[in-house]
Amino acid sequence: LITREQQKAAQKQAADMIREAGITMTDEEADSIEVADFGLSNLEKEGIQALALVQTDRISVKVLAMLPNQTVPEHWHPPVDDDPGKEETIRVLSGTVYFYVAGEETFKEGFIVEGKDDSYTMRKEIVMKPGDQLTLAPGEKHWFQTREGGAVMYSFSTIARDALDQFADPDIVRITKVVDA
Ligand SMILES: [Fe+2]
Repeated sequence: LITREQQKAAQKQAADMIREAGITMTDEEADSIEVADFGLSNLEKEGIQALALVQTDRISVKVLAMLPNQTVPEHWHPPVDDDPGKEETIRVLSGTVYFYVAGEETFKEGFIVEGKDDSYTMRKEIVMKPGDQLTLAPGEKHWFQTREGGAVMYSFSTIARDALDQFADPDIVRITKVVDA
């Protein structure tokens, strides 16, 4: 869980970063930025901020803002009924994103969240700078991370059913609980 205060602070930080990256949004949209802690109550280390620009029954466009040294836990987008699962393209707008997928281990610049070795199994490293993009096939496992300065990126995908995403870390709950402290 996160507190209302944490949510507001992360929304503001994300909104500033997104605008800085050149994306225009209304104040209402800035207030709608999703702040997710994946149920781990450790937002600064494992979490994501996401602004949904398009959400229909077929496609999804989000802007993702990651705070400095924040990690999005390893996950994949499973098939749902006769849909093979979400196909997702990440395109970096600002900052550097350290991306991890299946393949030969080239893990070098990244770090594993303390005590979480078993929850971060993909160790092929792709360092992405502004203008770089990568497409993940449905079901492909991935996790990603930022450093100082954080990062802003687009996520273009087929329909997003975030609540159905699957994670390597058994402690994860996709829907973030916000409490009024
Ligand atoms: Fe994903």
